[in-house]
Amino acid sequence: MIKEETIRISPEEIALQQQYAKEFAALEDRPKTYFIVTYGCQMNAHDSEKLAGMLEEMGMIAAPAKEEADFVLHNTCCIRDNAERKALGNVTWLKEIKKIRPSLMIGVCGCMVQEPGMAEKLLKQYPFVDVAFGTGNIHRLPELMLRAAEQKRRVVAVPQEQSTLIEGLPIRRESPFQSYVTIMYGCNNFCSYCIVPYVRGRERSRRPEDILREVEMLQKKGVQEIMLLGQNVNSYGNDAEDGVSFPRLLHMLGKTGIPRIRFMTSHPKDLSDELIEEMAKNPALCRHLHLPVQSGNNRILTAMNRRYTREQYLEKVRKIRAAVPGIGLTSDLIVSFPGETEEEFQDTMDLVRTVEYDSAFTFIYSPRVGTKAAEMPGRIDPAVATDRIERLIALQDEMTQKNFASLVGTKETVLVTGQSKRNPHQLTGKCSRMISVNFEGDPASIGKILPVEITAASKTTLKGRIIQE
Ligand code: 5AD
Ligand code: SF4
Repeated sequence: MIKEETIRISPEEIALQQQYAKEFAALEDRPKTYFIVTYGCQMNAHDSEKLAGMLEEMGMIAAPAKEEADFVLHNTCCIRDNAERKALGNVTWLKEIKKIRPSLMIGVCGCMVQEPGMAEKLLKQYPFVDVAFGTGNIHRLPELMLRAAEQKRRVVAVPQEQSTLIEGLPIRRESPFQSYVTIMYGCNNFCSYCIVPYVRGRERSRRPEDILREVEMLQKKGVQEIMLLGQNVNSYGNDAEDGVSFPRLLHMLGKTGIPRIRFMTSHPKDLSDELIEEMAKNPALCRHLHLPVQSGNNRILTAMNRRYTREQYLEKVRKIRAAVPGIGLTSDLIVSFPGETEEEFQDTMDLVRTVEYDSAFTFIYSPRVGTKAAEMPGRIDPAVATDRIERLIALQDEMTQKNFASLVGTKETVLVTGQSKRNPHQLTGKCSRMISVNFEGDPASIGKILPVEITAASKTTLKGRIIQE
């Protein structure tokens, strides 16, 4: 494996970009409004908050819809073929708007741009794209936009490596009481189906003091819940010299007084006893763990390069449940990995029945060029894949119902996130287990954590009533 050195973007480089932002803001003939279309995971959603922060520093304001914006930026995902097709389809659709309104600027960034060959493809086949840049240089947005706007030409900037670690970008956060905090970038695992290590680079951990400072600032602003982000948070700190491990970081963050801490994603192979112990002891940690298993069959797990067996996974589940009673588990599951037989698929079904997840993201395997699995024989017929995923979803729905029903009568704490979309008299929020709970209440409670008794369960949510204390 190639060892890439982490490149820390210096404060001087960030200051230079701020200078470009000012120059851009001073241009007369420049886009005034922006709209960001985000695809993919929370990491991308958080990158979009940083992109929005920079665009506002450049004097732009958010447009209510992409049809009305002067600059539309697509922050793309390439984890599965359909994510990529959707993004490219939407970019192409804007071409028609540009015909009517030639001043429209179109940008493409994120993981897809970082894929081998994609920059060339954008240059050749998408001549209406004005700006394209990869995940490794989002901090250069002001400079790239300035070049594109001043020189009226296309700017494509895709770094060879993605090993940058960027601090100090402005962030326009979507919510005043829930915040994403990235703790590490990249992934070293090379699961055989996954493109992420190729487009996001090797693991780079932020310094603990930088993370602590950010969380303390959020706590002072009244943020109630933080979600720590990383492709594999359990290996936080493995690339650093100061030896602050992930459980230790959680311990430090627990002391900031932030009421709730969540994190995503944990790789089962790295779920340590130390982390389980911290989850049992630290009252700020939510009772939820996203622990993607991907498959319940040992041959498939080996072919996926997951580096744990079904038995080891189940043992970790047993340990965490014993240490943190009432914890809710969720998972990612892939069906129809190359060569998967019906019996092997049944092992996944059986594992889902055994673990009883609260919910799971289910995917049909999608070959990604450049990954090991894309070279493996035994493509599964799409009709078989569809049939498998349907059976898996039906089973998971049953498990969800069972778990939700078992929560009726219990008391939960709920972070109120807004009014229910279907019924404005109802509030909605998330309990510690990360399940949506709807209940009657005053909109003034939005942003607060309230005690709620669970009174009923529907297919996707719980119903409750506020407990007056
Ligand atoms: N095909 C299908 N699903 C995939 N995932 C990652 N790569 C692929 C792929 N090539 C799923 C995994 C991962 C989640 C984020 O996306 O389940 O945990
Ligand atoms: Fe992809 Fe595996 Fe890394 Fe997750 S741990 S990002 S599935 S390579």
